[in-house]
Amino acid sequence: MKPVRVEPAGPIRGTLHLPGDKSVSHRSLILNALAGGPARVEGLLRSGDVHATAGALRACGVSIRDEGAAVLVTPPPGGLAEPSDVVDCGNSGTSMRLLTGMFAARSGHAVLTGDASLRQRPMGRVVRPLKQMGAQIDGRAGADRAPLSIRGAELTRAQHDLTVSSAQVKSALLLAGLRSGVSVREPRQSRDHTERMLRSMGASLREDSEGWLVLSPGAQLEPLDVVVPRDLSSAAFWLVAGSIIPGSDLLLPGVGINPSRAGVLDALAAMGADIQVLDRREQGAEPVADLRVRHAQLVGAQIRGELALRCLDELPVLAVAAAFAVGETVIADAAELRVKESDRISRVVEGLRELEVSVEEQPDGMNIEGGRPRGPAHVDAEGDHRLAMAFAVAGAAASGGVSLTNADSVESSYPTFFEDLRRIRGGE
Ligand code: S3P
Repeated sequence: MKPVRVEPAGPIRGTLHLPGDKSVSHRSLILNALAGGPARVEGLLRSGDVHATAGALRACGVSIRDEGAAVLVTPPPGGLAEPSDVVDCGNSGTSMRLLTGMFAARSGHAVLTGDASLRQRPMGRVVRPLKQMGAQIDGRAGADRAPLSIRGAELTRAQHDLTVSSAQVKSALLLAGLRSGVSVREPRQSRDHTERMLRSMGASLREDSEGWLVLSPGAQLEPLDVVVPRDLSSAAFWLVAGSIIPGSDLLLPGVGINPSRAGVLDALAAMGADIQVLDRREQGAEPVADLRVRHAQLVGAQIRGELALRCLDELPVLAVAAAFAVGETVIADAAELRVKESDRISRVVEGLRELEVSVEEQPDGMNIEGGRPRGPAHVDAEGDHRLAMAFAVAGAAASGGVSLTNADSVESSYPTFFEDLRRIRGGE
């Protein structure tokens, strides 16, 4: 793909209907594939990552029929079959980690692989606790790297006191523990979409006073029709673009605002953004709202601790916001960013430096001195969709613009991002 040039232009205005939430999309497919009958999923994200999960389930005999507005998920009558081929998770960490948990507790043999970025990401964090439950998993680097080979087994109940807060690990363990039961505790609560959906499907899942999430054995999941909220992580790019481009006024209807991952709203509020959260409502198990963003002069803020965890995926674009703010922004307690689709700390620091922003790299984050990012900058977004979109937003506001190579990585989570950017710049 040719480099994409994003030049500064006028305000962004109008209404944007964003694609479906990626986390909820994966879970709607996987959990319904394990339930007793067909379910309708409306507003499913159609993107590379979700496609990888759908492909894995289809290889196990699940019918996933696209009916336009909705997708019909029908598990095979006798339960999931052994996958008929190697399962390619592409760029998707969520697919690989959740499916590892799922396959560990089912009969048959599964081999999971992914693209070059995914094959570099740590899998030991999910493999180790699964092995404590009796899972049989092998892979590169002592089963810390994919390809992973999983031989399904009857697992035994275990208690996992995790050292890293990760919704992917927690969800993998809950999927593995559907029959045996399982208890999981994490240092700080990560996104809880799996818990909400499991409860809606009839699983007995409670949280005790010491923070243990306790799943009772023998869960029989009922099929669940889902209307997928629009993705707050995708909204984040527009919330920042609308904040830093003068004259902007944008409405984003029906966006998921689950508090366990809505830290971007709190971080932007602390930075002085003008964002209204309108018509809060429940959509199935998830809270949603319409978000309106208008331009405002941002100021520096501290993004650390549980706030950093609740906006981890949005930190690259929040770093871009910080570059346009008055004063210093500190991003800390976010070492996990180094093991995402790329090392997002060093790649964001590099990109900001290209824009002549003064930024200091830290092991667990960065300190950014806001000002007037200039450029022109060049950013290679290979293997990292959020890097491509964060720096496209920077290019729409920085005087010299940004040219992006490998920007087609947006396919992972938001394939229509550049189309949407063109449209709202025209004020449609
Ligand atoms: C996700 C969990 C998070 C997040 C990822 C999606 C999920 O990852 O960064 O984009 O859907 O469970 P970790 O579990 O590694 O924190």
